[in-house]
Amino acid sequence: MKTFIKLLPCVSLSWAILGLQLQGIAQTTAADRDREAYRNFALNHLGDVKRGEELFHDPKRLACSNCHTTDGSAGKAGPDLFAAGDKFGRGDLIKAVLEPSASIAVGYTTVVVTTKTGAEYQGILKKSGDAGVELMGADGKLVSIPTADIASQHGSEISLMPEGLQAGLTHEEFTDLVEYLANLKQPANMLASNRGMPVDIPELAQPVGLKPFFTEPLAIPRGRVLTGLTAFHQMPGHSNVFFVLHQKGFIWRMEKTADGEKKNLFADMTERVFSDRGPNGLLDMTFHPDFLKNRKYYLYYQIFEDGKVRSIIEEKQVDEAFEKDSGKPACEIIRFTSVAEDHSGGCIEFGPDGYLYVVMGDTGPQTDPNGHAQDTSTLLGTIMRIDVDHPTDDRAYSIPKDNPFVKRSDVRPEIWAYGFRNPWRFCFDRVTGDLWLGDVGQNRVEEVDIVQPGHNYGWNVYEGFEPFSNEYRYADRAYTPPVFAYRRKYGASVTGGFVYRGDKDSSFYGTYICGDYTSNLLFALKQKDGVLESARVIGKSPQPVVSFGEDEAGNIYVVGFNGMIYQIDFSKTEFNKTKED
Ligand code: HEC
Repeated sequence: MKTFIKLLPCVSLSWAILGLQLQGIAQTTAADRDREAYRNFALNHLGDVKRGEELFHDPKRLACSNCHTTDGSAGKAGPDLFAAGDKFGRGDLIKAVLEPSASIAVGYTTVVVTTKTGAEYQGILKKSGDAGVELMGADGKLVSIPTADIASQHGSEISLMPEGLQAGLTHEEFTDLVEYLANLKQPANMLASNRGMPVDIPELAQPVGLKPFFTEPLAIPRGRVLTGLTAFHQMPGHSNVFFVLHQKGFIWRMEKTADGEKKNLFADMTERVFSDRGPNGLLDMTFHPDFLKNRKYYLYYQIFEDGKVRSIIEEKQVDEAFEKDSGKPACEIIRFTSVAEDHSGGCIEFGPDGYLYVVMGDTGPQTDPNGHAQDTSTLLGTIMRIDVDHPTDDRAYSIPKDNPFVKRSDVRPEIWAYGFRNPWRFCFDRVTGDLWLGDVGQNRVEEVDIVQPGHNYGWNVYEGFEPFSNEYRYADRAYTPPVFAYRRKYGASVTGGFVYRGDKDSSFYGTYICGDYTSNLLFALKQKDGVLESARVIGKSPQPVVSFGEDEAGNIYVVGFNGMIYQIDFSKTEFNKTKED
């Protein structure tokens, strides 16, 4: 996504803008009306692609190409637009140009750095490391700022893309520009070669049902927008008790009883959790395999400390009644420090072997310029496997003896597999034990992997099946391709789900269910030995698909970012009945 982040494209207008709007109501209304006129015209007319392309590149008129590439290279300050017409519908393209700050592309937050001498720099973070940061400003120039000179650094809710770019255009010219953007599509012939990345994914003739699971949406207002949910879990051994996590740091305990639903605030961690920017916040919860005896559970969240995002996994305990947190101090298991504010992983789960599996993203910035995902001396861009039942003197966990890299001095022994960009959600197939993972892509494709110990899933040498960069390609490495990848036409941020193990007679039994946060599409996959056999679009969630849940009976739930949980009903449709039949 651009990533997630996902979670969270920061959709809120800043209070500063709001204040300005309140002060100048007459003026703003005129500007609004002006924008509406452009919008309406472009929605109701067709433009000329060629003229739009000229405007896009004309330095005297728009100079969009000062900040945007359209060849997939993404070397400028703004996102590459080579598949803008796949990614966005007409209305959203228009909105992206007329109101840049209304929704900031993930990974393209404006970063503001103030130096100790009082100079201020604004730009998109292109590099970040111990030595300092590199920002690309609105003028396209790179500025390097050494760490020793930095007094403060923070993200902004205002896009680096200026507002009002349409001002010098007629309505017809603006429509030409929109036509050009709408025609930027990933060419199908580039993609046809891979079995795992079908050019067209057949749609079910009858989509799966999506039944709201709770009566009320579970979301709280933040500023002017609803930010939302991140995870949903059934409490082990309690078929009617569920936990719903909110990015800001709330955990609700939901109980379904004969008299309806009981909603209780199980924990409020909003003081501690960092969720202001990027895919950060309270991201996941999981339960010890012996939870019913030891009542231990685990949380995955970010804090902001000394100017850095840090991801923390900690162990806690519920009280004896399984109603509330016990109040005992948490035990920190492991923490990671991010480079930028992106790609902080987000999923924890115990494997069938009783070990805790933890994912961590490359932590940004875009394109992983530090090569973290291929750097096995760090834990960034990996999935780890650790033993939380046997702490050592210096760590809250030990390393399972059969981890793949225990004998290699140049590889962190926690690593189970690596080469991931932002591995947001993974699961274990409860029948086969297969570890399925959705890894959020950069410019072109989203990917789904079946993870094998010791394997390298390619980022940033590969993105999906496609070569991405040779900067961190090492001669002695092999890369494992994904099982499934899809291009922008189907979405821009994959959310891994679960293998359906509910009704044994269902044609979906044993298929892997996943979805996309930006397109809201839901997919089902069949594979054999890691090779895709068939994929389907099985429906569309009414809300961004931020996560999935699975209960002990094998039902699968879609977690909508804006507060709804939907139970998937597979009973009225069939995997093999598609629209084409
Ligand atoms: C000063 C640099 C700059 C200029 C000039 C600029 N943009 Fe952008 N643009 C950005 C940045 C940075 C973003 C990402 C932040 C955001 O979403 O607002 C962006 C986002 C976008 C997006 C959304 C992309 C996505 O994947 O979410 C579109 C579409 C877009 N720009 C089109 C244009 C067009 C068309 C023009 C010319 C009229 C233009 N931009 C001019 C910097 C620029």
